[in-house]
Amino acid sequence: MKPQKRVYGRRAGRPLNTSRVSALDTLLPQLAIPAELLNEKAETRIESLFNTPAASYWFEIGFGNGEHLAALMARNPDTGYLGAEPFINGMSAFLKSIHDVPHDHVRILMDDAMMIANSLEDRCLDGIYVLNPDPWHKKRHHKRRIINQKNLDQFARILKPGGQLIMSTDVPDLAEWMVTEAVQHPAFDWTAQKADDWRTPPPGWIKTRYEEKGARGADKMVYLIFEKA
Ligand SMILES: C[S@@+](CC[C@H](N)C(=O)[O-])C[C@H]1O[C@@H](n2cnc3c(N)ncnc32)[C@H](O)[C@@H]1O
Repeated sequence: MKPQKRVYGRRAGRPLNTSRVSALDTLLPQLAIPAELLNEKAETRIESLFNTPAASYWFEIGFGNGEHLAALMARNPDTGYLGAEPFINGMSAFLKSIHDVPHDHVRILMDDAMMIANSLEDRCLDGIYVLNPDPWHKKRHHKRRIINQKNLDQFARILKPGGQLIMSTDVPDLAEWMVTEAVQHPAFDWTAQKADDWRTPPPGWIKTRYEEKGARGADKMVYLIFEKA
């Protein structure tokens, strides 16, 4: 049987320089979630991933070069973070950036984020970030978009009641897609009351690299915050 394709898009780009290779060699084995805990049986206890229990747990999906995740880690040392990024250049940049600062409260996967989501026990996360996910513009590729009913089922399962799903994008069509999918899902409530709530970054917002670059239009950025009922 053909193996299931789990990640669309690039997994590697330009060759890595030595400092990135060295960060990967030292930190990936230390911080990667062990394969046996990624068995997608919805039974992995989140505490079992960390050396010490954390006050709360958040998951960043597709963290790119990890600037947002690294900034969160520095800001909230009592929070346990999970991060997934299949692109080796992004993963190595993230690991290099946290090499010389405290990093025992993050655990990572260089693969499809849904392997983590499908493995975690019920109601263990305080929040999930999906920031600037790949837009997959062509209609025939829409099914590749990470926000869909099947994946939202898993996010709803692993979030605690009141847990947050925070999404952003500057692609209008994807913004509409993500709102429609999440509004349609029975487990999620949109917290926005007025347009400003989704057009302006929430207080304390950390810009991702993608957003920092101004990409195609920072003016089109939307910030979508949903709460698990
Ligand atoms: C447009 S980039 C945004 C990166 C970052 N969040 C930012 O805002 O700068 C989308 C990222 O999602 C990652 N990605 C794509 N499919 C993924 C999957 N199934 N699981 C985890 N990450 C994924 C890509 O490798 C890429 O780094």
